[in-house]
Amino acid sequence: MKSYYKVLSSSMFSLILLSSGISGVQAAEQTQSQVNGSVVAIDNSGVQTGAAQEQTPILVDQASIPAVIQAMTLDEKVDLIGGAGASVTGAAGGTFAIPRLGIPKLTFADGPAGLRFGSTANKSTTGFPIPSALSASFNKELMYQVSSAMGKETLDYGVDVILGPALNIHRDPRGGRNFEYYSEDPLLSGEMAAEFTKGVQDQGVGVSMKHYAANNQETNRQSVNEVISERALREIYLAGFERVVKEANPWTVMSSYNSINGPFSAHNSWLLNDVLRSDWGFNGMVMTDWGGSKQNGIAMLNGGNDLSMPSLNAVGKAAVKAAILDGTLQEEKLDTAIENILNLVVKSPTFKKLSTVDDAKQSVSADLAATNAKLSREAAPEGMVLLKNENKALPFSGTVKKVGIVGNSYTMPSCGFGTPASACTTDNAASKMFLMGTGSAYVTPTHTVQLPEGLKNGGYIPVNTNASGAEINENLTAKDAAYMAQNSDIGVIVIARGSGEGADGNSTTFEPSEKESELIKKVSDAYHAVNKKVVVVLNVGAPFNTVSWRDSVDSILLSWQPGMEAGNALTDVLSGKANPSGKLPATFPVKLVDSPSYANFPSSDGNPNLVNYKEDIYVGYRYYSTFNVKPAYEFGYGLSYTTFDYSDFKLNKDNLSNKIKVQFKVTNSGSLAGKEAPQLYVSAPDGKLEKPAIELKAFGKTRELKPGQKETFNFFIDPKDIASFDESTSSWIVEKGTYQFKIGASSSDIRGTLNFKVDKDIIAEVVNDNGPDVQLETLSKYNQ
Ligand code: BGC
Repeated sequence: MKSYYKVLSSSMFSLILLSSGISGVQAAEQTQSQVNGSVVAIDNSGVQTGAAQEQTPILVDQASIPAVIQAMTLDEKVDLIGGAGASVTGAAGGTFAIPRLGIPKLTFADGPAGLRFGSTANKSTTGFPIPSALSASFNKELMYQVSSAMGKETLDYGVDVILGPALNIHRDPRGGRNFEYYSEDPLLSGEMAAEFTKGVQDQGVGVSMKHYAANNQETNRQSVNEVISERALREIYLAGFERVVKEANPWTVMSSYNSINGPFSAHNSWLLNDVLRSDWGFNGMVMTDWGGSKQNGIAMLNGGNDLSMPSLNAVGKAAVKAAILDGTLQEEKLDTAIENILNLVVKSPTFKKLSTVDDAKQSVSADLAATNAKLSREAAPEGMVLLKNENKALPFSGTVKKVGIVGNSYTMPSCGFGTPASACTTDNAASKMFLMGTGSAYVTPTHTVQLPEGLKNGGYIPVNTNASGAEINENLTAKDAAYMAQNSDIGVIVIARGSGEGADGNSTTFEPSEKESELIKKVSDAYHAVNKKVVVVLNVGAPFNTVSWRDSVDSILLSWQPGMEAGNALTDVLSGKANPSGKLPATFPVKLVDSPSYANFPSSDGNPNLVNYKEDIYVGYRYYSTFNVKPAYEFGYGLSYTTFDYSDFKLNKDNLSNKIKVQFKVTNSGSLAGKEAPQLYVSAPDGKLEKPAIELKAFGKTRELKPGQKETFNFFIDPKDIASFDESTSSWIVEKGTYQFKIGASSSDIRGTLNFKVDKDIIAEVVNDNGPDVQLETLSKYNQ
């Protein structure tokens, strides 16, 4: 500790202050640099003081934190646990600065699809495809590249922490923020979020993994209590977060708004202290979601949440102070929070001077903007999912020159804060697709490319007018459709739904409207009458009903909200310049009512603030596969312009004790180059615990394979990977019996099966036994 108290002569210190004309933390920082990292004593005004006060320490590194905490007044401590605005206009928030102790302000900005500043801030960044689209790529390397690009932009703007990845589970197709999250599966979510974390943090800036946990709906998100069994929490809703903590060590975590089995997440000591910190070893800082502490600083500190964002109000602060003074709240709890906050500060680019803030800056640096726009364009096709492609309607044949394009009108139920209203409406989706989601995931893009422009860039002629030259949309007449069909070589219909924070979907977001159904019918009839093909592009952020109309069109391409380069990326895919290689990260059900959560979303028992997670562990494909409910398109599904063969399935042993290696080959057996995303599922035997029919345990993505080329995959699986959570012993167990590895191109298209045995029960991990006591009748294979 001694080295933090190096004292300069007062004349030297005054000289520095005079020459710099600055004070406080800046003076202290300059002084440090003059003396090789050692520190001087300063008072509030930055002036060196007498012998007794010469011992005021300042923050220089992690080792200096205890001394700094000791030097803090109670008021300063209480100030530091509340956010205090950002240094960059338009960023979501920042921390409190204490210049006399060398503690600078940090800035946090959203979010998961690119760095976000409020739309009035006039700061543009790269708009990447939405997270569901990135996860549909099943490509971890791509995710890393995209998040590295986001991390570079974060640093470029002088922001310290990007508020993502967001990895709540797609519990129900109506979840309003599903677009911002990765998947219905915790492994896919966790792996993608871990790559996001590594990519960002490798640039020297932090992430905030959010929303921990179970923020799976927007309806009453601030007040809803979710009743979830510990098994479903551990296996489904927490498992992705666990993976990120263990694989990628996120600097911060954001607790969610909702409560889980009683307490709000920000006040939930089991969730934050027992699970996150103790079971998983998280050693970073926890912040609330914006307003998530409910201004109850005492409950927040008791719950293990360090920082209240965007602030802790005067009443909240006074209550913490009073509780410490009267002994009802231990000061150590406050000190622990301060320590976690300061640990973040010393890692931050602001503290390390890796970045500076120039608030006049309106765009990321030109070279970064160009590189990242290219990456955004290349990333989108990897996540686009080809749902149908009859008679090879796609890619466009060589004779296609004129492309008829038409789309629907749609205005989002909630636009989301900070999003310009223009980004929340389409009046003809084909010329105004939704490029991204809204709310805190909205990015003010450096530029945008809509479909007509993309087609032109690709050498095509977009045709979207009727005989009188007016732009057509879902109100087109049969005559307009016939005119289009005559005057173009192929028809493209864009059906769009916006996605945003603040509202859940409903049947109108899932079902096509009457007008949309008519649009699809009229256009298909007109093109088919003249022997031309029709493609539907689904510009959506969550599952959409295709069953009522899919037979009338030739191809269906799920483009998602593909980012600011949408028009170029779509043209790349339609033309065949890029081969779509996405697979569904969530099941597309036949009907909304098929979803296992249907009856308990967004509330239960007529109580708007209660949700019973009765489907338990049977979320998404775990449900459809176990209970034999046929979806429209299953989890992991996605076609390609080429075909792939799977072969040479091998296990290195047929008995699992510690690690087992699964090997197989994927060969491009078609005639075009492409990428494939193979998936490994396990079918575990029932024992003391019942098991879903299949569970994803590993996945990969080939490099681009030319026809005839192959790639070998080796997946290593250890007991924890295939263990189930046993509430009665608070442990992860692998029960004895015969297991199957199923390797496939989707969750139903299984190409190879390998059996292995577990001779005796294996306890893979024991966790703390403070779990919630949940009284809930849950779905079971045995009591249907
Ligand atoms: C959202 C968070 C976001 C925060 C700051 C909240 O409304 O739930 O995801 O990071 O705002 O913008």
